[in-house]
Amino acid sequence: MVPSPAVPVAVNIDGVLHGRDDARVSVFDHGFLFGEGVYEVLRTYGSRPFLFPEHMRRLRASAGRIALACPLSDDEMLARIGETVGAAALDGDAYVRILLTRGVGEILYDPKACPSPTVVVIVKPHVDPPADAVANGVRLTLASVVRNHPGSVDPAIKSNNLLNNALAMQQAYREGAFEALMKNHRGELCECAQSNIFFVRDGVLLTPPTDAGLLVGVTRGFVLELAARLGVRADECVLREEDLPSMQEAFLTSTTREIVPVVRIGTYTVGDGTPGPVTRRLMAAFTAAVPERLS
Ligand code: PDD
Repeated sequence: MVPSPAVPVAVNIDGVLHGRDDARVSVFDHGFLFGEGVYEVLRTYGSRPFLFPEHMRRLRASAGRIALACPLSDDEMLARIGETVGAAALDGDAYVRILLTRGVGEILYDPKACPSPTVVVIVKPHVDPPADAVANGVRLTLASVVRNHPGSVDPAIKSNNLLNNALAMQQAYREGAFEALMKNHRGELCECAQSNIFFVRDGVLLTPPTDAGLLVGVTRGFVLELAARLGVRADECVLREEDLPSMQEAFLTSTTREIVPVVRIGTYTVGDGTPGPVTRRLMAAFTAAVPERLS
C-alpha cells in the first residue's frame, strides 16, 4: 500500500470519524457499483463554510433528480462538517467534499434495494490555484469529448458519475492545459470539466445559459451577483467557438478556484493575452465579499 502523504485528512462516514487509511465504504454501495450518488465541494475560509445554503440547495436538487433524499437537515450537515473540520486540525482553510450515495444493497437498480443512503464528508486542506495562474492567467484545451446530453445524465446533477469530466481532463493533462472547455451536443460552448466559463466582450459579461446543459455553479451565481453590484451588464447567451476571436477577456469560476483568468483557449489568444480589467474588478469584489457569506 502506498503510504499516506503527510496531509491532514478527516473523513466522516455516516456520522463516524475516520482517518485517511481507515475510511472505507462497502463495495456493495451503489455509489461504487453504479456511480449512483451526488456530491458537493465547498470550502471554508478559516473554519467557516462559504455559500453553505447555496451548496445544500444544490445538493438536495441533485439528489432529488436521482430520487434520493438527503437524510440530514442543513443544521445537521453544518454540524457534521464542523466536527470533521475540527478533527482534521488544519492550519488553514478546508476543502470539504460531501458525498451522498444510494447506500449499500443488493446488485439491483431498484432503489428499494438500499434501505439507507451513505453520507460521507471528506475534509482536507484547501489548495489555492497557483499564484502564476491567478496573476497571469491559464490556458484551456478545447475538449474533444462532448459534455453529457442533458437528456441523458444531466450536467445540472452534480453526480458522482464523473467519467465525462475525467475524459475531458485527461486531454487537458495530455496537452498541459489548466482546464478543458467543453462543448455541448449542439456544438455550443458549455462549461469546463471542473468549472464554469465567462467571457467579456465590449464591457459585457457573457456566460453560457443553464440550458446549454451545465452545472449551475454556486460560484457562477455569486459572480453574477457581484457583476450586478458593480454595474457590469451580464448576459447568459449561446456562445460558439467562432465567438472566441472576438472575446476580450475570459475567466473560469469554481469553489476551489474562485475566479481564474483565462488567456488562451486552444489556438486562440484571449484579448491581449493578459488578464483583463473586468476580470480583475470581479476578483477584487469577490475577495471583499467573502466575509458576508460565511456560515
Ligand atoms: N467543481 N462545472 C463543473 C462540471 C464542476 O465540476 C464545477 C465544480 C463547476 C463549478 O461549480 P461551483 O462554482 O459550484 O464549484 C462547474 C468542483 C469544485 C469539483 O468537482 O471539485
